[in-house]
Amino acid sequence: MAFPTETVYGLGADADQPDAVRRIFAVKGRPANHPLIVHLASVDQFDEWGRDVSDDARALAAACWPGPMTLLVAAADRVSPLVTGGRTTVGLRVPAHPVALELLGAFGGGIAAPSANRFGRVSPTSAANVHADLGDDVDLVLDGGSSAIGVESTIVDCTVDPPQILRPGGIDAATIQAVLQRGHLGVTSGPSRASGMLAAHYAPRCQVVLADSLHAARELEISRSGPSNTHVEIMEYPASVEAYARHLYQWLRDADERRVDVLIAILPPPEGLGEAVRDRLTKAAAAAVDRP
Ligand code: TXA
Ligand code: MG
Repeated sequence: MAFPTETVYGLGADADQPDAVRRIFAVKGRPANHPLIVHLASVDQFDEWGRDVSDDARALAAACWPGPMTLLVAAADRVSPLVTGGRTTVGLRVPAHPVALELLGAFGGGIAAPSANRFGRVSPTSAANVHADLGDDVDLVLDGGSSAIGVESTIVDCTVDPPQILRPGGIDAATIQAVLQRGHLGVTSGPSRASGMLAAHYAPRCQVVLADSLHAARELEISRSGPSNTHVEIMEYPASVEAYARHLYQWLRDADERRVDVLIAILPPPEGLGEAVRDRLTKAAAAAVDRP
């Protein structure tokens, strides 16, 4: 079953039912060693799923849950190795979406859920996106409207000291630093720390090229168009980083729909949600380079 969250739509299964969890991997076409986030109704369930939860993790949960923040902690005994991809850690999150919270509250357990897209495609931010990606392979899609944040949760590894940001997302580094009162935290975003963070995960089919300004984007537009019939477009550049994050994945999907060959994206400033937008755009551009 797919359900809305404030970040992106998730494809959920009872985290305690191995067969249900296996179906997620089958439907997504996702390798079994890519761990899933377990979604909870409330911070009160933290110790049912996590073990040796640090004070830093508790402080982040208290400040940011429900919200776009996934905390990696040591996994409690109940957590299936299917969920963790055989790791000793588990990612936990209480999402801030009324439909997700109602679902989780009524269910009572943990819902293991990756983003509800096929492996290697951009995450869905609407029920229509989920239907387009998964078709009849998903039994049910709860429609909670468009995701308000539009990029995935921030993943913070709380098993190391100080905690490390593994994936920039809906909560920025400055907020995390303010909660932890620890000065500068490292950001390690790469496959070495968390599988499933490969560049191609955030890439559309078209080639994404990055520009630092509208001026640079216009110059790239001219040089990329050339004499051939290459369809080059400059992606919209909204007034706020919040709007950029909210629309980013839909715009990438729309560009593919219009059969754009080269999509020029202007990087937002690296503040607030701009951190996550830059991260996803940079990965999308890197994936395009690898494409034949
Ligand atoms: O906003 C989100 O986080 C969305 C919504 C549905 O909650 N979920 C999401 O899930 O983006 P997914 O599976 O597409 O991305 C989760 C990332 C993956 O890159 C996975 O490798 C990493 O989190 N992850 C999960 N558990 C982990 C663990 N125990 N250790 C390392 N990485 C982990
Ligand atoms: Mg995903």
